[in-house]
Amino acid sequence: MPPSRPIDAGQKHDHTHVIVKFEKLFGERPRVFRAPGRVNLIGEHTDYNDGFVMPAAVGFSTYVAVTGRPDRNLVIHSEEFPGKFEFDLDKLPEQRTGAWCDYVLGVASVLRQMGHTLRGANMLVHGEVPLAAGLSSSAALEVACALALMSLGQVKLPLPEVAKLCQQAENSFVGARVGIMDQFVSCMGKAGHAVLLDCRSLEFQSVPIPAGIRLVVCNTMVKHDHATGAYNTRREECEKAVEYFAKWVPTVRALRDVTVELLNQHMHDLPATIGKRCSHVVRENQRTVDAAQALAEDNLPNIRRLMRESHNSLRDLYEVSCTELDIMVEAAEGLPGFCGGRMTGGGFGGCTVNLVREEHAEDLSTEDRNQPADLPLHRGRRSWRNSSGTRLISSVRRPSLQLHQPVRRLRKNCELRQIAAHHRHFIAAMKPGTGMAIFIDLVRKVLALRN
Ligand code: GLA
Repeated sequence: MPPSRPIDAGQKHDHTHVIVKFEKLFGERPRVFRAPGRVNLIGEHTDYNDGFVMPAAVGFSTYVAVTGRPDRNLVIHSEEFPGKFEFDLDKLPEQRTGAWCDYVLGVASVLRQMGHTLRGANMLVHGEVPLAAGLSSSAALEVACALALMSLGQVKLPLPEVAKLCQQAENSFVGARVGIMDQFVSCMGKAGHAVLLDCRSLEFQSVPIPAGIRLVVCNTMVKHDHATGAYNTRREECEKAVEYFAKWVPTVRALRDVTVELLNQHMHDLPATIGKRCSHVVRENQRTVDAAQALAEDNLPNIRRLMRESHNSLRDLYEVSCTELDIMVEAAEGLPGFCGGRMTGGGFGGCTVNLVREEHAEDLSTEDRNQPADLPLHRGRRSWRNSSGTRLISSVRRPSLQLHQPVRRLRKNCELRQIAAHHRHFIAAMKPGTGMAIFIDLVRKVLALRN
């Protein structure tokens, strides 16, 4: 897979070019569906243990433009990858092909297995979510495709069901045994909020990000090819632990059911590695619930402590961090306005997530206030004001609707930007409620300074 494009601070994120490209390719006007990527504030590697997570949808999305075809074929193009794929819906491959289109095929297969009738489709995919950065580009693609295919087949499902079928596509077709977190928040995220999700019951609540705090995502640019294998290994280790505990306490169905007391009683009988994995998961669940409470109470010192504990635990017990992530977490702690940070996502590279005081993150508000309220752009922003979950963003019925807005340049006097530019790191600053995101090149300098 080619490396993901760095997203430049001044780049315009406008889906109209997807429509234009689609019209050139297929000669007709499409409907466009959007689904966002996510960043996880806390609750890592807990979702497949029936535990708690607290992700937020981000302002990078995947767009799928679609029209129906008279035949039974799926014709799939991407703006980011060359070539096209064509498959007969009635003879879809049973296994993954190894190409990016597997996410689309997986979703189509699962919808068919569920008994839904799909129509042949022309599809064009445009992805803004950086690939393999731990921001869930795959979930965004799955969800946007599911909605596109469902709309053609007139399949109506509640969004949590869409999340589940997309997870199933990734588990059974793509072969990554991921939990429900990414797909769920891509469907159900809300502007300016994180989502506290109980991954067993799928009950959830939206937790407001405190006023004046922004999410800053720093990308190490490290991509580890073995990540899927290591991820599945972690899952197997958790399953072994559950088998062990279920022998002692039959009501244990997942690590979610193991208490700290039960773990402590058995710690010395568990193989060392399994014991470490359990210690992480059991305590991470509690940290996630505590962090939701702390966020609701604006208790930033507690959030900072919990995020740091989470990072240390992922580094030392779950062993999914890497040097770059560790350094980046430490580097952020020294920055002005820092209120908490940790690695985010599956690990072995990817990003850190940080809570940063607005005045230190970036300054977009002046430009925002200067926007007259009656500009179409402003109206568009309001509806798009997400960090919220997935949606149909344009259709043949409302062709002129423009919901996307340009990402604005950081102001020159932004402190974080200066530091970031100085260290040549890679940072994304997201203002909850607008979904705006800025990436700046960072990390190597810090590594060089450390060495
Ligand atoms: C990946 C998976 C999620 C979750 C995280 C770790 O992002 O897709 O389901 O398990 O890793 O928290």
